[in-house]
Amino acid sequence: MSTADAVIEVQGLTKSYGRFQALKSLDLRVDRGQVHGFLGPNGAGKSTTIRVLLGLLRADGGIARVLDGDPWKDVVSLHRRLAYVPGDVSLWPGMTGGEAIDLLGALRGGLDPARRIELLERFELDPTKRGRQYSKGNKQKVAIVAALASNVELLILDEPTSGLDPLMENVFQEVIGEAKARGASVLLSSHILAEVESLADRLSIIRDGRIVQTGTLSQLRGQTRTTIHAEFAHPPETAALAAFGDVRLDGTRLSATVESARIGEAMAILTRYRITSLTVEPPSLESLFLRLYEPATAQATR
Ligand SMILES: Nc1ncnc2c1ncn2[C@@H]1O[C@H](COP(=O)(O)OP(=O)(O)O)[C@@H](O)[C@H]1O
Ligand SMILES: [Mg+2]
Repeated sequence: MSTADAVIEVQGLTKSYGRFQALKSLDLRVDRGQVHGFLGPNGAGKSTTIRVLLGLLRADGGIARVLDGDPWKDVVSLHRRLAYVPGDVSLWPGMTGGEAIDLLGALRGGLDPARRIELLERFELDPTKRGRQYSKGNKQKVAIVAALASNVELLILDEPTSGLDPLMENVFQEVIGEAKARGASVLLSSHILAEVESLADRLSIIRDGRIVQTGTLSQLRGQTRTTIHAEFAHPPETAALAAFGDVRLDGTRLSATVESARIGEAMAILTRYRITSLTVEPPSLESLFLRLYEPATAQATR
């Protein structure tokens, strides 16, 4: 794929705070029209990366391109084409939510008035309250409505739903799906897999200032294991099960795991013993994710 298809392209990005290196040669690419999940534990470097992409922080080294521009030099023109929602929205205390939405929208070349009304309803947000009266979750909603009511090409969302209740989390998921359907590209950071799993076309997992894994959900799932529970008419021989892991065989009952990419081979072996019942648990990204989250020392000692 050519560079023209990328809305965000980061190569070898480094950033230190004093002597602490927060980004250690980070690479990230977000393709146009996609929702890209940016996942990693707290402190991994998600917000630092995003602040560089927004021109709020200057990187020490490496390349960062946003919408074919330089996030530091082209900050004015880029911010008309993108919208940002931070994880900890602060609002003007004396301004109403509606006024804040309009002000933020004006920075981005205006809002779609019909969508503004619709989003206020769907997020059940009262726009007449003042900034100081809103709860944390309602402040997030103000920023989310402002971002999603503008027709920007790129949404950069840094843990945007922190403080939202689960119902509103669902609304958020729908609304992001709609933004994608309109052609918007989205970088969505989170430390919780479930928040991005259903939305993201691709995921990049960051740990300690580096991307440790990137790919489509199915590519990442291909690296996980599928669990099989089966019962047979004829008991299988242990030797036939060499390709399986975590084998527990009790006469005609089997539970085992198999690399997700090799599920076809596994089934071919099992059908020899006439399957009478079968359940297959889809591979859990959660397990892959947790493994990647473990501290480096735990991985090194394996
Ligand atoms: N302004 C700062 N000064 C010093 N250290 C910082 C600053 N901002 C972030 N850090 C540190 O950099 C690391 C990455 O932080 P951050 O990018 O906020 O991670 P994330 O958003 O993934 O939680 C953390 O260890 C954090 O403590
Ligand atoms: Mg953060």
